[in-house]
Amino acid sequence: MNAPQISPRETGLTEALDRRHLMHPFADLHHMAQSERTVIARAKGNYVWDESGRRFLDGLGGMWCSNIGHGREEMADAISEQVRTLDYYSPFDDLCNPAMADLGAKLASYAPGDLNRVIFSTCGSTAADSAIRIVHHYWHRLGQPQRQHILTRHHAYHGSTYITASLSDPGYCDGWLREEGFVHHLQSPYIYRNGRGMSEAEFCDVLIAEMRSTIESIGPDRVACFIGEPIQGSGGVIVPPAGYHQRSLELCHSYGILYISDEVVTAFGRLGHMIASEARFGITPDIITCAKGLTSGYVPLAATILSDRIHEVLSAPGAYFNNGFTYSGHPVACRAALKNIEIIEREKLCERVTRMGPLLEEVLAPLRELPLVGDVRGSRFMMCVEYVQDKEERRLFDGSTRIGKRIWRNCQKRDLLVRPLEHLNVFSPPLTLEEDEIRFIGRVMHDAVLDTADELTREGVRFG
Ligand SMILES: Cc1ncc(COP(=O)(O)O)c(C=O)c1O
Repeated sequence: MNAPQISPRETGLTEALDRRHLMHPFADLHHMAQSERTVIARAKGNYVWDESGRRFLDGLGGMWCSNIGHGREEMADAISEQVRTLDYYSPFDDLCNPAMADLGAKLASYAPGDLNRVIFSTCGSTAADSAIRIVHHYWHRLGQPQRQHILTRHHAYHGSTYITASLSDPGYCDGWLREEGFVHHLQSPYIYRNGRGMSEAEFCDVLIAEMRSTIESIGPDRVACFIGEPIQGSGGVIVPPAGYHQRSLELCHSYGILYISDEVVTAFGRLGHMIASEARFGITPDIITCAKGLTSGYVPLAATILSDRIHEVLSAPGAYFNNGFTYSGHPVACRAALKNIEIIEREKLCERVTRMGPLLEEVLAPLRELPLVGDVRGSRFMMCVEYVQDKEERRLFDGSTRIGKRIWRNCQKRDLLVRPLEHLNVFSPPLTLEEDEIRFIGRVMHDAVLDTADELTREGVRFG
């Protein structure tokens, strides 16, 4: 595929401006002062190009989000046409626009059960933040304001607002206050680390027992909700044991506790379903949040989808709902989402992931036999490789080894972009990936792991 053309720009300018003026999200800023930048200048299909014109296969799908692939003309047309028709108008009070109404109806048609109400925002963090505010407001309206406590899990990632950072793994709250009064972390369903020696079913029993005892110790009538990703993404692509979500939801509902499914990564095809909660995990949550694949990252947009039951309470006489954003229902973003969903439907991308996902699992699985690799896990187009210094003990490398970044660099040398996350590399490619591209990922990862093992040996680092 030829690189799309852009106007020439002095090489090095972007990196220089970045070093001088930018702060990157979730970065070791000290390290970044010295480290090189990879300036991504162009993108088309399943590929991106750096400013020197070098092409990389996009193994990370932007940031779990480029589901339909990059640079689609019809996305550009839909977006520009919407800008020409209605660039923006307020969604507040009784104002509305056709794109947001159409998208609300579309999302309701895909959401399970009576999840027919949608409030839009701009990113996964604000979608989860809104979900929590909806839940607290709901209990307040029902005359149970003591129901404030939230169950979440270790290895969770729900976002980077103050409350969603608190709902995420405690490791994300370094240097600022973590909400501890009403946020409770259960262990994650991470069988490789938490369930060693147990069968899936035994491990599931342990997790459910912990959830029950935590609810009992808080006091069931003080617990507002549980929030969980169907597969924990940024925490390490943690696939729960079979039946875990169903049993968690049943347990929560038996105590009247609401269940929020954070589908920011898993919705819109990544696991082969538009919405994974019911189709894949057999649950109908009370609230679903989504973002990322909703527009495939072309423009920012998120949605919090809630049940008619919750909405009925929030819209009772005398209630006022204090939550929303200038861009809740931005017509350009909603138009982009509608076009994106139309493409996913027309090209049958969910079916494609169901077909091709197992191949990605298959090409990555043999990495387990290589040095450094402790675990390979995930599902379909959401995969992860975990590195360890000691395979038997499953001991991690010291953070200063930057093992995920080393392998990431060695993949880049072979024209593949993956995501480094401490001791992990994560894969969430466009859903349009071809068979030869999937096999390419397998080969490059194999070689990059072996190169990295040689590099560490030369440096005198021991592993085994
Ligand atoms: C499951 C999940 N929820 C929420 C978020 C936050 O989304 P955003 O970065 O768009 O705010 C993310 C981001 O990766 C995520 O993976």
